Amino acid sequence: MLGQALSRNKSLPPGESLIHPITSAIEPIDLAGLFPAEQPLELELGCGDGSFTMQYALAHPDRNIVALERLLGRITKLDRKGHRAGLKNLRLLRAEAAYVLEYLLLPGTLDAIHVYFPDPWPKKRHHKNRLISEPFPSLAKRLLKDKGIVYLRTDNIEYFEQMLEVFDSAVRFERTETPGPLKALVTDFEQEFNAQGIPTNHAAYGKTGG
Ligand SMILES: C[S@@+](CC[C@H](N)C(=O)[O-])C[C@H]1O[C@@H](n2cnc3c(N)ncnc32)[C@H](O)[C@@H]1O
Repeated sequence: MLGQALSRNKSLPPGESLIHPITSAIEPIDLAGLFPAEQPLELELGCGDGSFTMQYALAHPDRNIVALERLLGRITKLDRKGHRAGLKNLRLLRAEAAYVLEYLLLPGTLDAIHVYFPDPWPKKRHHKNRLISEPFPSLAKRLLKDKGIVYLRTDNIEYFEQMLEVFDSAVRFERTETPGPLKALVTDFEQEFNAQGIPTNHAAYGKTGG
């Protein structure tokens, strides 16, 4: 039975998988402790099948990256890619982002949070499902180290305006530039949108002192 489930999901055996199994709904996960080297720690939310994640992890072996995604097929695909590339600085979580942010991470541990092309939920009655909404900055503030940064991208101009609104009115965040080399790493979704002539909207917010 188990063998069938594994082959259906094309999952890697536990010792080889980059997916960290979440075994408690209460105990926080020490993300830094999942890596062999102690180095800056960054979290990507809604990584899809990891087109950005792979480029970023390969370009920055001196940073530890945790990529989170709720869909099994996508995270499994990224698991295989990361494993094949022998990445030591990548770990994966299959989970619901909002729950993990609120309950399962240790405060003051992240150097950066990346959120690229989160589901836009365009209908007004669905806006409440958006990841970047009013509660997000305070969750991010708790988890980031001082001077930690949130990087955002979306093709949806109306969602972008909401992102700016919630962060501009958040305490202890100020807008900063997205570095050129980071912008140059485009995601699969981004490539598709850009090919249709839809530009990417970028924003970055740094946590300030005080
Ligand atoms: C539009 S895709 C973008 C994927 C990737 N960031 C990119 O730019 O190529 C959004 C991804 O976020 C995931 N996602 C959306 N909401 C999520 C949530 N609350 N928790 C975890 N993953 C989520 C979706 O399953 C999907 O894979």
